[in-house]
Amino acid sequence: MRLDKLLANLGYGSRKEIKKMCRDGSVKVDGVIVKDSSAHVDPVNQEVEILGNVVVYREFVYLMMNKPDGVISATEDLTQETVIDLLDPEFYPFELFPVGRLDKDTEGLLLLTNDGKLAHDLLSPKKHVPKRYFAVIDGVVNEKDVEAFAKGVTLDDGYKTLPAQLEILVQGEESEIEIVIHEGKYHQIKRMFEARNKKVTFLKRLSMGPLVLDEDLELGEYRELTEEELESLKGN
Ligand code: URA
Repeated sequence: MRLDKLLANLGYGSRKEIKKMCRDGSVKVDGVIVKDSSAHVDPVNQEVEILGNVVVYREFVYLMMNKPDGVISATEDLTQETVIDLLDPEFYPFELFPVGRLDKDTEGLLLLTNDGKLAHDLLSPKKHVPKRYFAVIDGVVNEKDVEAFAKGVTLDDGYKTLPAQLEILVQGEESEIEIVIHEGKYHQIKRMFEARNKKVTFLKRLSMGPLVLDEDLELGEYRELTEEELESLKGN
């Protein structure tokens, strides 16, 4: 890989700035100054240093975020704050994107990565990756709803959902539930409850496949996945 490309991707500056740093003798490969920024390096097996710092190379980054209400699951937007805006600039060079979408007012687990293959696998409709949500519902959720969701409900556009597992945690004029769905249609859970004449007033994603939201993350906080979490996602 070209040295200037590697360093620019990792956020050490523009290619022009890196060219200058190389010419100034600020870049070393395996302890030897390299003045030509177009030189090729093996980022895995060679040690690259810039301004005395050893460069830690990685191609892919995987972040788990506890998405807050009020930000959109997009990479950029002219007017609205996005989940990418919540990241530290050190992550910008990796060009992360959210794996799937949560509505603007939905909270909870959101995976951000630049690993297109993993994202594709997790979102593939064929894989039916289960996603668990907690929700507060305006209305009394009952066994009839549980049965209807277990069979699949017909949404406003005529689409019949796959079976979903509904668990009632608190039953009352305002109910609390957990639900597992195996697909990701637009506003799916809100529309499933609308089909039962009930309204979702709060929605939070708890898990996606084997990945479970770290409850230590405050709203808007994120962290990198652990090795185990990543392995379990890849094995999914
Ligand atoms: N279902 C919804 O209605 N909204 C979400 O954000 C996710 C699932």
